[in-house]
Formats: sequence, C-alpha cells, structure tokens
Amino acid sequence: MDGTKEVGLRNVSSTCSISEMDDFDLSRLLDKPRLNIERQRSFDERSLSELSIGLTRGGLDYCEITYSPGGGSGLDTPVSSARNSFEPHPMVADAWEALRRSIVYFRGQPVGTIAAIDHASEEVLNYDQVFVRDFVPSALAFLMNGEPEIVKNFLLKTLHLQGWEKRIDRFKLGEGVMPASFKVLHDPVRKTDTLMADFGESAIGRVAPVDSGFWWIILLRAYTKSTGDLSLAETPECQKGMRLILTLCLSEGFDTFPTLLCADGCSMIDRRMGIYGYPIEIQALFFMALRCALSMLKHDTEGKECIERIAKRLHALSYHIRSYFWLDFQQLNDIYRYKTEEYSHTAVNKFNVIPDSIPDWVFDFMPTRGGYFIGNVSPARMDFRWFALGNCVAILSSLATPEQSMAIMDLIESRWEELVGEMPLKIAYPAIESHEWRIVTGCDPKNTRWSYHNGGSWPVLLWMLTAACIKTGRPQIARRAIDLAETRLLKDSWPEYYDGKVGRFIGKQARKYQTWSIAGYLVAKMMLEDPSHLGMISLEEDKQMKPVIKRSSSWTC
Ligand code: GLC
Repeated sequence: MDGTKEVGLRNVSSTCSISEMDDFDLSRLLDKPRLNIERQRSFDERSLSELSIGLTRGGLDYCEITYSPGGGSGLDTPVSSARNSFEPHPMVADAWEALRRSIVYFRGQPVGTIAAIDHASEEVLNYDQVFVRDFVPSALAFLMNGEPEIVKNFLLKTLHLQGWEKRIDRFKLGEGVMPASFKVLHDPVRKTDTLMADFGESAIGRVAPVDSGFWWIILLRAYTKSTGDLSLAETPECQKGMRLILTLCLSEGFDTFPTLLCADGCSMIDRRMGIYGYPIEIQALFFMALRCALSMLKHDTEGKECIERIAKRLHALSYHIRSYFWLDFQQLNDIYRYKTEEYSHTAVNKFNVIPDSIPDWVFDFMPTRGGYFIGNVSPARMDFRWFALGNCVAILSSLATPEQSMAIMDLIESRWEELVGEMPLKIAYPAIESHEWRIVTGCDPKNTRWSYHNGGSWPVLLWMLTAACIKTGRPQIARRAIDLAETRLLKDSWPEYYDGKVGRFIGKQARKYQTWSIAGYLVAKMMLEDPSHLGMISLEEDKQMKPVIKRSSSWTC
C-alpha cells in the first residue's frame, strides 16, 4: 500500500470533515511512504474553550476552532442573527436583504450573485454578471448561514463553463481556465435561460482571470468543509476540474522561480497597475489552492501524479515566498546594504536588486516591529508596495509562518492610519502618482492616486482581515475595523470602494449596492460572532514546511 493514500478522500468516511486531511504532512508526499502516522488533532477535534485561550493577545499560538456545520435555515432569517446572544446591528438585516436581491437564477435555481445592482449608475458594463471572485464572500455568507445549495449550484455551473472552448480572436486558451464571470440571459418570450461566460475575451483590456480557478478550488473546500458532504468534491467532474486548473500552473517551462508568472490585471486588480510578474495576491491564492486541492484530490492514477507535483511545488513555493518576499526592518536594512553584481551560488543579493531602487516611503513606513510580504519579486525588481489581499490570504493559508502572521498584524496595527484609515481596507499602499502613474498605469483615469486599485479602500477586504485577525488571535483589530465600516456602509449604500488617503470619500466611479461589500460585511460579522466558521477558509500550519530561519527583529521578539 502506498502510504500517501492516507490523506486521500477515498479513505475518509463521508460523514467526517475534510479538515483532518488538512493536517497533511508534506514530507509524507515527498519522502518514502510511511505507515502509522500519528495525526495531530485537527481543528475540528479541538474544543471551543481552547479558542478563548487562542484569542488572547500576545502568544504565538493560533486560535483553534471547532467544526460547526451550517444550520440550514431555509428561511429568510439569518441563522447567525437568530443565534445572537446580543442584538444584531441593524445593518445586518439590511445586508441580508440586499444580498438576497442580488441572487441570480438559472432555470429556477440560484447559481450566484450579481456583482452590483446600482440602478443609479448610467453604465452597467459587466457589473450585471456573476464574477467568480466576487461570489466567494457571498458563498461564505450562505454557507455560514446554512444555505449551501447556491454554492453547490455555482460550483457545478462554473465547472461546466470550464469545459467550453475558449478563444480570444484566433487564439485558444488553456483547457483549465475558469471564467472571470458569467451571465444568465433570460428570454421571456421563449422562456429559456442561457449562459454566457467571459474568460477574458470580453473583459476590459482582455485580462486573464488567473485567480478564478484558485478561488474555485478554495470554495470547493469551503463547501465540503462546511457541509461535511464529500460527495461533490469526489465526483470525477470536480476531480478533473481541479486537475485541469492546476495543470495550467504546474507545467514545467523556462521558469527559474516556483512562483507563477502573470500578466498585469490578472486578479482582483484587473487593470494595468504594475503587478505583472509574480504578484503576491496570485502567489498566495496559488499556494492556498494547491493546499486545498491536496486535501481533496483522490489518489487514483491521475490524481496521484498531480498530488506529487503539488507537494513538490508547495515545498519550493513556501521557501521562495517566505524568504524573498518577506520584508521587515532587518530585511530592509539588509537590502539597503546589498552589494550588487554578485555572480554564482554564493550571491547574497540573488536577484541583483539595486539598493537605489528602494523607494523613499518604505523607510518611513516600516515599523521597528512588524513586517509583510511585498508585492512582487523578480530580477532587479522588488515592488515594495503592500497588498492587503495577498497578505491576508498568506495568513489564512499558513503560507506565512505564525511569526510572520503576527508581524503582519503588528504592521496593520502600527500603520493603521495608512492601511485602514477611515474605511477598511486599503487594497494597496501607497498610491502611485505623477510620472510613475503615467508609466505604470498607462495614464488610467480610473486608477488615479488614492482611488480604485491605486490606493483605494475596499470594504470587501473586511472579511479577509477579520479572518486573519481571528486566526492570529487578535479579534479586537477586526472589531475596530468593523466599527468603522458600520459608521458608513449602509448610509452610503454599500459602495464598491472609497477614495482618498484615509478612505473618506465614496469612490469616484464606485458602484452602489456592490454585492461583495455587502457579503464581506456579513461574513466578517458572522465570523466574529462564531469563530468556528474560520475553518472553512483557513488552513492549519503544515509543520513539515519548515520556516526559513532568518535574522529578523520581528520574528524573535
Ligand atoms: C472590478 C474589480 C474586480 C471585480 C469586478 C466586479 O473590475 O476590479 O476585482 O471582480 O469589478 O465587481
């Protein structure tokens, strides 16, 4: 028998949660098979009483959570607020109503949520579509509220779309590509519903949705974990879907790095913003999707090959990102003193980063205690900007070591004004301006400084911040951020984003009733209320992926 089989779905009874498989030990997949592995207690097996210990500030211990499958209300009353021991915020009911209004139906079945329902806006563009990335917080809200049906339908519909032939002009895209978005066309005369999908061929700038496939895998795990229903992930269709998504990323080529090379606009930031190369958002999602897939792929002939490639890639990817993307005071000082033009294996400055390319702002921004994963690393280029999504996902996926996760939270706390300001959470910091803005964005008027993707504040990011806060045992940070959101979101009709250095102004071209702003708020509230929900979207640290030993002040204090 192959020892690696132990982590496969096949060996797990359909009543048990997949979280046990999250406790996988990477070395098992890389090394010779070992039998009789003593498993650590999974998240699910731990008691809620331990959670309160985890939630106390100071230690490096992650909070630990219990398994609580969604309650299945079926009614309009959110289970979460019914469960409340305290009065729910009046915004919660409004948010649920708005979220339900955004549901899209295909032949009578709910299959997703529309990006925004803003009747006041003159241009609809593609905001009337179901975006894969936008649906994630909606899906989590429904799962947390015990309504998994819409999530299952969404996963199956998008999987079906993956099977379509995708072309841009005369060019055929990879088989595994998942759509950025889809739309249901209702014909009231013929009484038919048809689907229309966009794989980048209609998107502004013809950008590739690299993140869609990763979110799909992450959501499949969230669904499985929340419902305890392994049968969906086990279907040959879902198994194939996962393999196809990952085959796109795991193929060997000219790459010298384990990170994934991407064009600009390939993720939530879907316009030119200088994120081409190896953007942290994609790398963190890639890492998380690999880990989620590892816990769901079967150990049959095709699955096994994929699993082996995943294990090898995870090993290299975590080493690369933890070592080269990490920046704290000590690391910054080291880069500042780098020698250049070093040849051979003994090089310290491996990517030949010229210290003069370090932007001035980062010296003031870097606190003595704290750190973060920078935006991008490639030859002679380090993009020192902070990106919220990548850093939060790094915490949730345990790409960040516990010490790095703590340091990221320290940074958010000490740079609150810059990163949170009056509206959580800044998508990227700082904004790029003037000549640099012209060159980097191609003079994009939607991305002027402190607006939209260029330093704008996005309420949707609140759910990821909250999840990261709970995981690191610092819920008080999330509470502070939620309090801020509650002063404005409903009054401002749930905008897509805010503008300005501290996020005081409703975004120049922000949609109102943006669904993921609404769902993100609900998810944040429900997680704080019942932290056991975190298990859906968080992966425990894999003790075998050894952290890189580095000499950083924030790691040792
Ligand atoms: C914008 C955002 C993108 C989002 C889409 C729909 O294009 O940049 O991240 O998915 O709107 O809300």
